[in-house]
Amino acid sequence: MNLHERRERHERRSRRNLRRASALGLIAAGVMAVAGTATAVPASASGSAPSSAKASTLGAQAAQSGRYFGAAVAAGKLGDSTYSTILDREFNMVTPENEMKWDTTERSRGSFNFGPADQIVNRALSRGQRVRGHTLVWHSQLPGWVSSIGDANTLRSVMNNHITTQMAHYKGKVYAWDVVNEAFADGGSGQHRPSVFQNLLGDGFIEQAFRTARSADPAAKLCYNDYNIENWSDAKTQGVYRMVRDFTSRGVPIDCVGFQAHFGTGGPPASFQTTLANFAALGVDVQITELDIAQAPTTAYANTVKACMNVARCAGITVWGIRDTDSWRAGENPLLFNGSGNKKPAYNATLTALGGTPAARATASPASPASSASPAASLPSSFRWSSSGSLIAPKSDATHNIAGLKDPTVVYHNGKWHVFASVASSSGY
Ligand code: G3I
Repeated sequence: MNLHERRERHERRSRRNLRRASALGLIAAGVMAVAGTATAVPASASGSAPSSAKASTLGAQAAQSGRYFGAAVAAGKLGDSTYSTILDREFNMVTPENEMKWDTTERSRGSFNFGPADQIVNRALSRGQRVRGHTLVWHSQLPGWVSSIGDANTLRSVMNNHITTQMAHYKGKVYAWDVVNEAFADGGSGQHRPSVFQNLLGDGFIEQAFRTARSADPAAKLCYNDYNIENWSDAKTQGVYRMVRDFTSRGVPIDCVGFQAHFGTGGPPASFQTTLANFAALGVDVQITELDIAQAPTTAYANTVKACMNVARCAGITVWGIRDTDSWRAGENPLLFNGSGNKKPAYNATLTALGGTPAARATASPASPASSASPAASLPSSFRWSSSGSLIAPKSDATHNIAGLKDPTVVYHNGKWHVFASVASSSGY
């Protein structure tokens, strides 16, 4: 039997089973009250070819391969119209640059202030942009009352409460959290750096933080985030790799690794793609979370983007600021827009590496009805949806031992709801 005949036979059988399933009276189970957020898998990860249509912005172009393109955002700059215009035009992921850090959100014990972060998050979500949460546990930008805690039990309870309260506040609103940031030491040790968390709680503080985070918002992706872990052979990279491998092998919840990617003029190390691929092979997403490159050379930006594009589980890229003047490294002009908000050459290199063609678009007349405007250009750059739990479940009876079902269709006819689906048991569909 050839492939075509096999498919026809399968479809005939499926249709028969649909009728049978209806007669079996499949029942609708309760809808779960808490909605989570589901995210599209990069097309490359699911094996389908990325769309060949070209988009005109970073976010829209990244979305064509199921990825995002984001920026770090400062609440205090949202009123600057040059800044917010670029933000809304180009980016479909937003990371609060400082507003979710401990010294802002819990400046004194148990007293939380989410005002500045809320401003960024609510604005982003209302425009269809997603949000990365940065960061829950970090030795820096940590208020003095935390660094001066002297006993493990107090610190553990303070850390867990901080994670739980902050994640609960943003439950369902944050795509991924940097649960722990920069916990590994620079240099050749491959070990954790000293910090109040490390010193009082020991190596286990990272695992503790991730377990607490999973309970607080099971739908959010949980990332470990660090800098100088892009070069595969570096001791720091290897230390983080061993931790992620250990976590995934023992079932400690971790979904992603963030590579900050604060590069010098040379851009990423030659092994960057290998590093991303090796981490991804552990079963986690990889993300470029804080990209900036001294003097923004076009090749360096293109190489960074290509490394991500070549790794199916590289979910997206975030640049650490919008204009050079917004950057924490402003003196090095490391971003994609200059101080006036104009696109730099690195912008075009980035768009091209994402799959776009800036030059071709510049000559197209968007107003002309004859122009070959991409159908994708009119699509939103990202999609969001909420997912309930199971809506229907199989119900066996005396003669049908049903193990599972798929492809449900609900039809209202003659005052009755009918649920059609394919059902399966050990003997087949
Ligand atoms: O909030 C005060 C403000 O009240 C005061 O008026 C102002 C005067 O300078 O300072 C403000 O705080 C500054 C804060 O940024 C907000 O602008 C801090 O002094 C300054 O140190 C802080 O810098 C941030 C830095 O993290 C702190 O470590 C940068 O903006 C931010 O880009 C940078 O981001 C980090 C990531 O979180 C982690 N990875 C490295 C990355 C770059 O350092």
